[in-house]
Amino acid sequence: MARRKKIYEGKAKILYEGPEPGTLVQYFKDDATAFNAEKRDVIEGKGVLNNRLSEFFMTGLNNIGVPTHFIKRINMREQLVRAVEIIPLEIVVRNVAAGSISKRLGIAEGTPLPRPIVEYYFKDDALGDPMVTEEHIIAFGWAGQQDLDDIVALALRVNDFLSGIMMGVGIKLVDFKIEVGRIWEGDFMRLVVADEISPDSCRLWDVNTGAHLDKDVFRRDLGDLADAYTEVARRLGVLPTNAPQSGKPTLIN
Ligand code: TMP
Ligand code: ASP
Repeated sequence: MARRKKIYEGKAKILYEGPEPGTLVQYFKDDATAFNAEKRDVIEGKGVLNNRLSEFFMTGLNNIGVPTHFIKRINMREQLVRAVEIIPLEIVVRNVAAGSISKRLGIAEGTPLPRPIVEYYFKDDALGDPMVTEEHIIAFGWAGQQDLDDIVALALRVNDFLSGIMMGVGIKLVDFKIEVGRIWEGDFMRLVVADEISPDSCRLWDVNTGAHLDKDVFRRDLGDLADAYTEVARRLGVLPTNAPQSGKPTLIN
């Protein structure tokens, strides 16, 4: 069998050519990195969990009319997605101060923000994903004003959706990052949520205990990352069907 063509390899995922034009296969690796890959490890089962969790969130978004690149999950580690022209921005929405905003502005972690705050970072590993403003984005042509209006609207809808889902299972959505891509349909262009939505790209705090259930467990050496992600998956009811309801999921590669 011919080897499929690798289109792109990132820190946590690989994109392969899809079965039909305009599609890609997104493969979730077990690699975990932080601080622009200065810290790295392999967390057995992380890719399987993130594949499931991202499927769950993207399907939910599609169902409420927030367009995403997600088509369907193929197997334990892969999903079929629409090929998009990715906008080179990391779009962060924050509800509670934590991480870089706490450092940058001296706001204690855990302080509720007066309203959701949307920030942009230029996706460039060599530069360490620097924060940018709408001025930079428009001046350098990464996106236009109309795109930015649409991106903010998308990001806030994702925030409301994810916040609600998480609060329903006793988890506070502190902040998250999305990426947005363009899909062309003839002469028409649509912006869709792309990449992944998983505990790799969110901050999730247990409402009662404040326990971290996201990649900060790895960034800050707080415990077992797979256990934290398994807990999120378990609460949301998205563990693989053959998995026990407690403890680690049964992982099939
Ligand atoms: P920050 O507080 O480090 O700026 O992170 C804000 C949110 O964005 C947090 O939920 C983690 C997520 N994030 C990513 O998904 N990728 C990244 O490279 C960084 C720095 C943060
Ligand atoms: N994703 C980034 C990295 O791999 C940073 C992070 O998530 O903390 O280094």
